Amino acid sequence: MSEKTLQEQGELIAVCSGKGGVGRTLLTVNLAIALKKKNLKVSILDGDFQFGDVNMAMDLQSASTIYELLKNETRIDELALNELLVTHQSGVKVLPAPDRPEFADLVTPEVVDQVVDIMVSQNDYVVVDTEVGFQEKSLAIIEKATQVLLVTNLEIATLKNTKLMLETFTTLGLREKVKIIVNQSTKKGFVKLEDLPSILDTDLLYYLPDNDSVATKSLNQGIPFGVSRGKTDLAKALYKLAHQLIEKKDVASLKHNSKPIFAKLFTKQKHMKRSGRM
Ligand SMILES: Nc1ncnc2c1ncn2[C@@H]1O[C@H](COP(=O)(O)OP(=O)(O)OP(=O)(O)O)[C@@H](O)[C@H]1O
Ligand SMILES: [Mg+2]
Repeated sequence: MSEKTLQEQGELIAVCSGKGGVGRTLLTVNLAIALKKKNLKVSILDGDFQFGDVNMAMDLQSASTIYELLKNETRIDELALNELLVTHQSGVKVLPAPDRPEFADLVTPEVVDQVVDIMVSQNDYVVVDTEVGFQEKSLAIIEKATQVLLVTNLEIATLKNTKLMLETFTTLGLREKVKIIVNQSTKKGFVKLEDLPSILDTDLLYYLPDNDSVATKSLNQGIPFGVSRGKTDLAKALYKLAHQLIEKKDVASLKHNSKPIFAKLFTKQKHMKRSGRM
């Protein structure tokens, strides 16, 4: 891997959620494009290893995926990885997820770790669309990430899981790097937007409006709105978010803890149970 100092490392942005279907892929793809428009080197890792659909959302045809890296090697080769990246017309590069869900288990946390390290060393920003919740591989990515975007909406079930995710981030000592993205924030529902700060216990929320035609077209036609519908409310909110994310570049959290985060999660839970906090 090319040697870079900590300051020269790119940022890793993990996009996660406690519930499926909340807009992780939409955010990942369009955020990457918004960052690319700022003349930065940007790649996407489709970390939704079972059902990744970044390829579809960007209308990319690719015969190869991260799965090709697993066939022979124990150590991931940088050149081999680069050959698998597909370049979108925007210039964003994508490492697609395996095309069959049964291959997902073959992508181990160790492989993910190496792939992320290589991608971060080659880019200004790597945006990862992760699996729902705290799967082992998602946790490995979240631990390495400099920023974690936790996507929620105003549905009760999503908010319940978002709260649980936030509590777990706090337990793991990762809460500081989490930004809560309230997607479809203008959609009228049971929960009112003004109640969110008290529900989620924070005022620091980032909002993306509801825009069904723009979002659905973006995903279904594979033409990200960051490319085709730059003047819409959704695109503008996304550009604003991209701007806010790069404002305070913070590489501190690239300093890793030696203990695997998955193990740490269980140790902390045991500890909390013993001390009667759970
Ligand atoms: N801001 C928005 N306004 C309107 N619709 C939206 C918005 N964001 C997402 N959607 C819609 O929500 C659905 C899910 O979006 P998306 O696929 O990005 O979510 P996801 O979290 O990646 O889902 P999965 O868990 O299946 O991977 C899509 O139909 C999309 O059009
Ligand atoms: Mg998705």
